[in-house]
Amino acid sequence: MSDPTAAFADYEREATAALAAAATPDDLEAARIEFLGKKQGRLRDLQKSLGSVPKEDKPAVGKAFNEVKTRVQAALDARQAELESARAGAAVDALDVTLPGRAPHRIGAVHPLTRTIAEFKGILGRLGFTAVDGPEVEDERHNFNALNIPDDHPARDPLENFYLSAASVGKGEGPLLLRSQTSTVQIRVMEQTPPPVRVISIGRVYRPDTIDATHHCQFHQMEGLMVGEGVTMAHLKTVLTLFCRAYLGEGTKVRFRPSFFPFTEPSVEADALWHGAGTGDGGAEGRWLELGGAGMVDPNVLEAVGYDPEKVSGFAFGFGMERFCMMRHGISDIRLLTENDVRFLRQFG
Ligand code: FA5
Repeated sequence: MSDPTAAFADYEREATAALAAAATPDDLEAARIEFLGKKQGRLRDLQKSLGSVPKEDKPAVGKAFNEVKTRVQAALDARQAELESARAGAAVDALDVTLPGRAPHRIGAVHPLTRTIAEFKGILGRLGFTAVDGPEVEDERHNFNALNIPDDHPARDPLENFYLSAASVGKGEGPLLLRSQTSTVQIRVMEQTPPPVRVISIGRVYRPDTIDATHHCQFHQMEGLMVGEGVTMAHLKTVLTLFCRAYLGEGTKVRFRPSFFPFTEPSVEADALWHGAGTGDGGAEGRWLELGGAGMVDPNVLEAVGYDPEKVSGFAFGFGMERFCMMRHGISDIRLLTENDVRFLRQFG
């Protein structure tokens, strides 16, 4: 070898130029084989030529050879890192976060109970009933006394109600409890509105009932109230019949069975003869389904809110919303309505 140092410089210059020019991993691999390949290539040629270097020059030339080799190897590593980071950057740039996702969007569904509530409000709204709300935490006066439920009535038993432990109200209206029925709203409306009134109120009520397929400790009721001059049981039956026909289908009949509620006189349980449209049961004969309690507002209740029972009369009804919703949609267990199992809820999409 004439001048090993010059050959090393040529090699290093060409190698670094070739590595810098490599635009792809394949280019880089080709340059690596040419300039740093172990079995053949330019480095191997240089190494072979070291054999002809005079013995006294060998340490210095060998050292220079190793230094050149290390620098070229470093240049290869650096270029490799550059290409890799460029590729990662390109992948990020290629990600368009504004594109729609590949998984289909699942559109939620209105909960069957929410749907039932909306339908009830719609039907009774068309019959002239305004929807109103009342508080879920009530005092004893609105939940019991004003509804003609005296202090010693079994319905007031602490074991039959959810009383609030800290409960005592300043206004002297008795301890607080979670309301056990929406009939409380009858009182609140009549206290604040002179007759005539025509309202419904749909909301949650609470009772420490044992939970099973048809009972829950928290459920919804719809209260209806119509008070005015000359309101009779015939109006009650007409409103309930029109309501049931709109909700359960044409031809649905309503019947009354005698019953008792402290705040209505006379009191009835209302049933609907339903042919099971929508769920396939019932058959041609149909079957009687319990709607809930109803009756003519007791004169004592009218007096308690300052109405004159000699001038006005009224009817009231109270239905369990969950039972209606279950009957309409063929739901066999009330607990399904609060379990939030998406497999159940999706069926109502
Ligand atoms: C009442 O609550 C009366 N306030 C109804 C009323 C209003 C009568 C106005 C007269 C005038 P009752 O306790 O029967 O009545 O309940 C009414 C409805 O609530 C029942 O028909 C039933 O559908 C529903 N219900 C009662 N208990 C439960 C429960 N634990 N789980 C689910 N639904 C229930």
